[in-house]
Amino acid sequence: MPKEEKPKEKTKKTKPSDSEEKPKKTPSKKKKEKSEEMKLSDLPGVGPAAIEKLEAAGIFDLMGVAVLGPKELGETAGLGEAVARKAIQAARSMMDLGFQDGLEFAEKREEIFYITTGSKEFDTLLGGRGIETKAITEAFGSFGSGKTQLGLSLAVNAQLPIENGGAEGKSVYIDTEGTFRPDRVKQIAEAKGANPENVLKNILVARAFNSDHQILLIDKVGELIKNGEPIRVVIIDSLTAHFRAEFSGRGQLADRQQKLNKYLHNLMKMAEQFNLAVYVTNQVMANPAMMFGDPTTAIGGHIVGHASTFRIYIRRGKKGSRVAKLIDSPNLPDNECVFYVTDKGVCDDE
Ligand code: GTP
Ligand code: MG
Repeated sequence: MPKEEKPKEKTKKTKPSDSEEKPKKTPSKKKKEKSEEMKLSDLPGVGPAAIEKLEAAGIFDLMGVAVLGPKELGETAGLGEAVARKAIQAARSMMDLGFQDGLEFAEKREEIFYITTGSKEFDTLLGGRGIETKAITEAFGSFGSGKTQLGLSLAVNAQLPIENGGAEGKSVYIDTEGTFRPDRVKQIAEAKGANPENVLKNILVARAFNSDHQILLIDKVGELIKNGEPIRVVIIDSLTAHFRAEFSGRGQLADRQQKLNKYLHNLMKMAEQFNLAVYVTNQVMANPAMMFGDPTTAIGGHIVGHASTFRIYIRRGKKGSRVAKLIDSPNLPDNECVFYVTDKGVCDDE
């Protein structure tokens, strides 16, 4: 099972500060890293052609291979049965497929960090303490509903001390729409009694110019973390805008979904591996009645719905309030709450 930081420190001989200058990426070094670093290409007999076939079949990682039989893998990847058998054995030995006891499981849960939204009501909706690491939280709603404001608030709040609802970490903000506002960040930070300049410095912002660039930036996040940056939240605002713009033709829906699917899979993997929270935004049509009648109105439709651990629908409420509704959470009731967006960012009062 993926464990974060600790195993990597062991395998990494150099100190984080040493590797900052040139992240050594020789193949031999890569092989030495722990199983969570292993890719399909590390399996014996599995070349680029086979990988392409596997990915087309929705298999992106060692777990996907480890659970197959030799015949099935052979057929899917276009490999001989003997080669397939060896690849499966390798995948299984690279992974820890055993059980863990309840105590280990509980300890793992304790590793989770929580990041307050800034509103007690909203945090309660999400189970009590805000968004959590090792999970994707998706906010969807129409323009101006508050998705970006929540993102900016989380980028600040992630830096707060744990007792104040933060995760004492840094934030990554992947901005696809050019809506990141440094001045707004400073304002929110100041309202929380934090040093605005420091808060801004601890948010690593990247503008993603198209969907490929957006996807590529996830690898960069991995590099930042390996270089010692204590990142606890990755915000992607918006998750879907580029995909929607680039795959707008009628025949392109399947391609878009496949690309989004893979991207979300990688986001989930990143969240698990590095113990960080992922917050993504997703704009939808203004008419909520229509939305619920036809869930595919949400860009990414069912696929985004599956990968997200928490889905929140945000809309404008009465008298300048906002309403957040939790949708389809595996272990929380589908409730809703009222919150506000003020100079303090997301909060409980006007
Ligand atoms: P799209 O990105 O267009 O889909 O919308 P969004 O859901 O990201 O909306 P966003 O989070 O940008 O919300 C915009 C709203 O937040 C505005 O209409 C304001 O009501 C509120 N808002 C934005 N900035 C401030 C601010 O500095 N102070 C206050 N009090 N409210 C703000
Ligand atoms: Mg926005």
